[in-house]
Amino acid sequence: MSQLANQIAVVTGAGRGIGRAIALKFAGEGADVVVVSRTQENSEKVAAEIRALGRKAWAFAVDVSDGNAVTAAADKIIADAGKVDILVNNAGVTRDGLLMRMSDADWDTVLNTNLKGAFHFTRAFFRTFAKQRAGRILNISSVIGLIGNPGQSNYAASKAGLIGFTQSIARELGGRGVTVNAIAPGFIETDMTVDLNAELKANILKQIPLGKFGQAEDIANAALFLASASARYVTGQVLTVDGGMVM
Ligand SMILES: NC(=O)c1ccc[n+]([C@@H]2O[C@H](COP(=O)([O-])OP(=O)(O)OC[C@H]3O[C@@H](n4cnc5c(N)ncnc54)[C@H](OP(=O)(O)O)[C@@H]3O)[C@@H](O)[C@H]2O)c1
Repeated sequence: MSQLANQIAVVTGAGRGIGRAIALKFAGEGADVVVVSRTQENSEKVAAEIRALGRKAWAFAVDVSDGNAVTAAADKIIADAGKVDILVNNAGVTRDGLLMRMSDADWDTVLNTNLKGAFHFTRAFFRTFAKQRAGRILNISSVIGLIGNPGQSNYAASKAGLIGFTQSIARELGGRGVTVNAIAPGFIETDMTVDLNAELKANILKQIPLGKFGQAEDIANAALFLASASARYVTGQVLTVDGGMVM
């Protein structure tokens, strides 16, 4: 029996990497998926992969940091798909640099995408979830939000912020039967990490007890658990998926 049969999932940042893996994993478990990324082309590509699995898919190009664009997209999603059962706030970016040299633009881009983007989409579907009295919200945080990282103060602030956001919305929606959880991935091999220099990667690897980097599918597996009926009594939690890097 498919774990997400008859469910509609909205996954942001699903054009590539972790979001794409989550979208495909959910589709493989019977969900129809709304694919959101910055670019129509990337969203269309993943939507086509989902349709090839025999599920329905809708492709959206939405900048999650733009509140008006998110509200308009959310209205269209409800009109097209009819409902939303699972929202995954996954869209994220980095703009690394030491604080003494960090520009306002780099701070704002990261906070507005990673944290405010999740606020925009969650707010846009809040009434839908509350009325349905069921649903799942997943926020993709990071181990950097748990332990910080030099050169990533903006990213760490956004990812730590997502954890407080997750816990607050879990409390707001708990009485409505909606669970809200976060996943904190460690080092996952995607476009986001591909360009890091070899020495830095070797140093990170030394800190990972399982001795290897994670794959997007490792995060998708955790997302599937939290979105499935198996996690019905889990809310307000942060599930770290990092090969043991942070413990
Ligand atoms: N990779 C890791 O090691 C790692 C570790 C911890 C946490 N994470 C988190 O996991 C999430 C996914 O990361 P990833 O590695 O899969 O990244 P990625 O490969 O760089 O993909 C990022 C996705 O987010 C979308 N996106 C970026 N800014 C957006 C915006 N303003 N509006 C809408 N969509 C936007 C991109 O859209 P386009 O495809 O159109 O460009 C893309 O589909 C992020 O939140 C990241 O912080 C990643």
